[in-house]
Amino acid sequence: SRQIQWFPGHMTKTLRLMEKEIRNVDCVLQILDARIPLSSLNPEIERITAGKPHLYVLNKSDLADPEITRQWLAYFKSAGAGCIAMDSKQRGRATATKGLIEKELSALMERRRNRGMVGAAIRVMVVGIPNVGKSTFINQVAKRKSAKAGNRPGVTRGRQWVSVDAGLDLLDTPGILWPKFEDEATGLHLAFTGAVKDEVMDAETLACRLLELLAARYPNALEQRYQIPADLSGQGWELLEACGRKRGFLISGGEVDTERAAKMLVGEFRASKWGRLSLERPPQRDDMADFAEEDEE
Ligand code: G4P
Repeated sequence: SRQIQWFPGHMTKTLRLMEKEIRNVDCVLQILDARIPLSSLNPEIERITAGKPHLYVLNKSDLADPEITRQWLAYFKSAGAGCIAMDSKQRGRATATKGLIEKELSALMERRRNRGMVGAAIRVMVVGIPNVGKSTFINQVAKRKSAKAGNRPGVTRGRQWVSVDAGLDLLDTPGILWPKFEDEATGLHLAFTGAVKDEVMDAETLACRLLELLAARYPNALEQRYQIPADLSGQGWELLEACGRKRGFLISGGEVDTERAAKMLVGEFRASKWGRLSLERPPQRDDMADFAEEDEE
């Protein structure tokens, strides 16, 4: 039931709208968070849009580990999808994005040319989870200046076609999640990056899991920012206390104010104060072999 609370009615409505609109578009462009590409890939959207050409934008790539992003690009391309990395806050990416869409849809455009439908615009449905940067991306590509009503995850916005130029129309859709995460890691990744509302999980648990993940993946980042030795095989709680103490977040009796420390740490991660970090790596062939072996046991 806790899970259902964060799947509000407007998300169900959006899924229905997508089911209806999918027939009217030429392709689907799903915006992913470059730091967590698979966790931010919405399986409900994949289901609804199956059968249409797919493009993936690894957005917020300025916050992600460049080497890991390169691996993700190869991963999606090897699966036959178009994929680009993007920093939507940076200007001048409109041409690259348009180029990608046109390349991906070249066969379709060829067919249209042959049928004399030269003027018909390509229609692209732009989808993604809340807060992934969909508005920023569309504004950038369409060179549109527009204020959004609010930037809290799950802000409702109506259906909207945005014309990039005579040849390209984008359908903006509200950000949606899906009702149930298959594994805990997915839910955590979405909480770390701010895609699910903070109220879903208590701040301390969130920060502990984040610290454990960072300690395993990027021990140097932890050491550089909080002088916590890289070899501290820390449990999340110990790391949280150590960071809080370093910051002087103490309450009476010299105890660490762990809640304050937790909020600060998650905030720092979201603001990229720890450097460019990727929380998820593409599945490797070796990992697959491990899974296969486990299956056999
Ligand atoms: P949404 O429509 O998918 O809900 O997302 P939106 O564009 O509102 O973007 C959510 C937040 O992510 C915004 O930050 C936005 O600036 C930021 N963002 C979007 N794309 C990128 C990107 O490629 N790189 C980085 N670093 N940030 C990106 P905010 O803090 O909510 O607002 P503000 O800082 O823009 O005021």
